[in-house]
Amino acid sequence: MSEQERPPEQPFEDSQPETLFIQHFCEEARPLSYYLKNMSGYSALKKALGMSSDEVINEVKKAHIRGRGGAGFPAGVKWSLIPKESAKAKYFICNADESEPGTFKDRDLMRYTPHLVLEGMAIGAYAIGAHTGYIYIRGEYVRETGILQAAILEAEKAGYLGKNIMGTGFDFEITIHRGAGAYICGEETALLNSLEGRRGEPRVKPPYPAIAGAFGGPTVVNNVETLAGVPFVLNRGGDWYAKLGRITNSGGTRIYEVSGHVKKPGLYELDSGSVTVRQLIYDYCHGILDDKKLKAVIPGGSSAPVLRADEIDVVADIDPMLKIGSMLGSAGMIVVSEDYCLVRLLARIVRFYAHESCGQCTPCREGTKWAQDILDRIEGGRGHQQDLGLILQVADNMNAKSLCALADAAAGPIISFVTKFRADFEAHIRGGKCPHA
Ligand SMILES: Cc1cc2nc3c(=O)[nH]c(=O)nc-3n(C[C@H](O)[C@H](O)[C@H](O)COP(=O)(O)O)c2cc1C
Ligand code: SF4
Repeated sequence: MSEQERPPEQPFEDSQPETLFIQHFCEEARPLSYYLKNMSGYSALKKALGMSSDEVINEVKKAHIRGRGGAGFPAGVKWSLIPKESAKAKYFICNADESEPGTFKDRDLMRYTPHLVLEGMAIGAYAIGAHTGYIYIRGEYVRETGILQAAILEAEKAGYLGKNIMGTGFDFEITIHRGAGAYICGEETALLNSLEGRRGEPRVKPPYPAIAGAFGGPTVVNNVETLAGVPFVLNRGGDWYAKLGRITNSGGTRIYEVSGHVKKPGLYELDSGSVTVRQLIYDYCHGILDDKKLKAVIPGGSSAPVLRADEIDVVADIDPMLKIGSMLGSAGMIVVSEDYCLVRLLARIVRFYAHESCGQCTPCREGTKWAQDILDRIEGGRGHQQDLGLILQVADNMNAKSLCALADAAAGPIISFVTKFRADFEAHIRGGKCPHA
């Protein structure tokens, strides 16, 4: 159900009782009192504090929570990479930068269930031995920043955050850091630079954040949705959480974000891997606007290689999507109907990546700009048939040849759009204008 369509008198819990998160979404942020009464609030943290850090990490490993920020790395494995002993302080960071076009789930998790995110962070911090945490939040999320700040104060007052949490001697303090509008600061090492007051540029890796992250100390960076799942893992067990997922190594529920030309866009929380892309579009989103035909689907945020209409019987989970040459990313699906111009769509996507490239790597800085120029030329009716070979060559020179995945995020859509929908590009060039115009 889209946000606009949600009637105030009918919160989500009436319509979706089976979900972990969305049943608790309502008009306002859930306060601590609601969290304690209806969501077993902070009982998972209490349980974790009575366990050893290894036991907590093992439970999260068993749960098979794969990172919801895009790469799908298992959270338990990430936590286990933090060295036990460290001369430098360790840090636990929540990545709330959410800037990929097509993604909008973290916003609602923070807006409606902020304590889930804070509790997930505190459990993670205990597991790795960190006493300082940061939430790096997208600057435009002004309302969510206020909600999280209020929730932190509530939790501190009640003894769930801050010094000597629940009398156990464990200290953990969370500070919110607002970004200034750069997509690249969602990349974890650019985020760390920005947090430290440096330019928001990705770092050369290795060393990875687990060894030298924030201020040089061992650091975990996890996405908002990844962390929001952690309290359920501790409360109900890693095995229970893992079984929610339909694919062996991918546990829990997943918030699919569907936008574009569907009748009912919005957030759909379902057991991981329990639906195909077709089912999401036709069963949950009620099909394509004006009963048009489906043309294409971008399945995982704008950086995911596009799918044709005959490829949507794929299960919407990480591995099945990789198998067919695309990716689930952060599960932001953009649905495109038959009468929308794909040249225009690709030009719009590539302009975004060209604008957001930090400029450190030549293939990315120059490649995104070249690709943008070529696509603008084709879209403006000044393209040549040779431009298609040229843009594929430019994309190939960007793919896996730069410091971070932003260059790949631009190359993937270029290669997939131009190879899967070549006839659309050729028609555009031949006619000197958009055939849809
Ligand atoms: C260009 C770029 C932008 C990214 N933006 C985000 C973001 O906004 N939020 C996010 O959680 N991860 C983002 N990531 C992924 C992070 O680098 C990192 O993998 C993630 O925060 C790890 O959390 P997870 O393991 O819980 O998914 C981005 C990656 C790249 C390359
Ligand atoms: S790939 Fe692009 S965004 Fe990433 S570091 Fe290089 S220039 Fe910057």
